[in-house]
Amino acid sequence: MGKFQVLDHPLIQHKLTIIRNKDCGTRSFREVVNEISTLMAYEVSRDMPLQDKKIETPVAKMTAKELAGKKVAIVPILRAGIGMVDGILELIPAAKVGHIGMYRDEETLQPHEYFVKLPSDIGQRQVFVVDPMLATGGSAIMAIDALKKRGASNIKFVCLVSAPEGVKALREKHPDIDIYTAALDDHLNEDGYIVPGLGDAGDRLFGTK
Ligand code: PRP
Ligand code: URA
Repeated sequence: MGKFQVLDHPLIQHKLTIIRNKDCGTRSFREVVNEISTLMAYEVSRDMPLQDKKIETPVAKMTAKELAGKKVAIVPILRAGIGMVDGILELIPAAKVGHIGMYRDEETLQPHEYFVKLPSDIGQRQVFVVDPMLATGGSAIMAIDALKKRGASNIKFVCLVSAPEGVKALREKHPDIDIYTAALDDHLNEDGYIVPGLGDAGDRLFGTK
């Protein structure tokens, strides 16, 4: 079974409170989502494998460490996942970026896939799927289905706010993946929104409501 981890670093928690506040405007929301994503990338990349590298410092020869093995792909679930990409690229600038377009039908809450464009070597990469919200889990499950169908196997899911319902569904459908979240909230309401949550992440990021 993959990991499930709530990243409760004080800086992450403080910044999450800023964006949960309904008075946080689009500009601040976008900035702070980026900052949280950078902090989360630091934690999520903690188990990246290292290898030895022989180098010479100005003083002596040494065997130092460098990142080994799989390269990274960041895959945001459109739209709201886009808000997390730049923050992760701050720490992992060489990562490739794929996109999976998904929207949730407001009536049925069922996800619909409308776009998939991934790096051609996705199967050889460590994939970070990013989306601020894990609500029913439908979008994350379908996005990971799409990735696995195209050869990806090493996948971590990174979100800001999750609901217990979504975590359970995602772990049942894709037990192999690691899930990282900045908060595990209380429940989903009858409209499929996370309570207390932060509202509609896409609308708040892009100012569309
Ligand atoms: C939101 C959010 C997730 C999804 C989560 O996207 O960004 O992708 O809902 O809900 P789920 O876990 O129940 O599937 P939305 O469908 O509103 O699209 P948007 O990002 O384009 O606004
Ligand atoms: N999508 C969002 O953007 N917010 C929620 O609370 C649930 C799904």
